[in-house]
Amino acid sequence: MIATNPDTHLLIDRFGRQVTYVRLSVTDRCDLRCVYCMSEDMTFVPREQLLTLEEMFRLGKAFVAMGVDKLRITGGEPLVRRNILKLFQDLGQLDGLRDLTLTTNGTQLARYAKDLKAAGVTRINISLDTLNPERFRALTRLGDITKVLEGIDAALAAGFQRIKLNAVILKHRNHDEVLDLVNFAHQRGMDMTFIEEMPLGVIGDHDRAEAFYSSDAILRDLRQGMVLEESAAQTGGPARYFQREGSDYRVGFISPHSHNFCDTCNRVRVTAEGRLLLCLGQEHSLDLRRVLRAHPTDDGKVREALLESMAIKPQGHEFNLQAAQPMIFRHMSATGG
Ligand code: 5AD
Ligand code: SF4
Repeated sequence: MIATNPDTHLLIDRFGRQVTYVRLSVTDRCDLRCVYCMSEDMTFVPREQLLTLEEMFRLGKAFVAMGVDKLRITGGEPLVRRNILKLFQDLGQLDGLRDLTLTTNGTQLARYAKDLKAAGVTRINISLDTLNPERFRALTRLGDITKVLEGIDAALAAGFQRIKLNAVILKHRNHDEVLDLVNFAHQRGMDMTFIEEMPLGVIGDHDRAEAFYSSDAILRDLRQGMVLEESAAQTGGPARYFQREGSDYRVGFISPHSHNFCDTCNRVRVTAEGRLLLCLGQEHSLDLRRVLRAHPTDDGKVREALLESMAIKPQGHEFNLQAAQPMIFRHMSATGG
């Protein structure tokens, strides 16, 4: 059945799903080169093709006017974009925005955590795949784990609640660390989420089917060392959560391969160039940069374009690890992790 949209200021797609959550990528660049995310020599978008911070704010405003109450700033690594704090400060003032969140690799958090908190950022996700410095360097191709650990400390000290650590788990690279990662997070009052690798872009490092380590395997491994109860608390997102016995903290799983989550999809993404992506695993998109630049002062035109985009939001993704080529050539860094 096709749902109609009586309330035309809300973003409701053909399947009756309302978009209330937008992930906005502010750069495709990053100071790391994680093996599941990027190839060794990446070509980045020329800077003049990126949305300006002012254009991003216009978009944020338009989305919030249309019922979006959660914005996540992603990258690449958002904190490598110059003057990025200004965007957080502007978005932080928007009435109707309940949640302003950030996904970061943590390397710049020691410098930014306090100001982000003051700007109104409500929650932070930090990527951390391993606790071992050598492995960290290998997985990120050039990273220094001490910077990330300092960043995590700074975020905790700045008073962020329920920080979430994210780890992509690869067989034989870090799958033996899942218990240690959960303990590390929980001892510091953070949640831990494990992500199955998604086939986004050519990475030239490993065979993704071979490196696949399922959420169910992780759960089985964790249950050797702790009691985990499936939690009723769902956030409307793709993660499934488990509560650890005797702890306030959770373990989450994002499992695009083993558990499809498209039915309840409430989100869209915007790339750093202003391409509105209607599904992480499909190419359906709309060029918002063109709309923004054709109508530099008319936000009504932007809202109209957003509304029209609902007609092309696909029903779901079709990830396939066995395919010779990834179906999606965009890297996660170009997509808005
Ligand atoms: N599959 C799954 N997760 C990925 N990330 C980056 N690339 C991939 C991929 N191919 C993750 C990062 C980070 C988040 C932004 O996305 O580890 O946690
Ligand atoms: Fe950078 Fe995140 Fe991609 Fe790693 S996963 S290269 S930290 S954008």
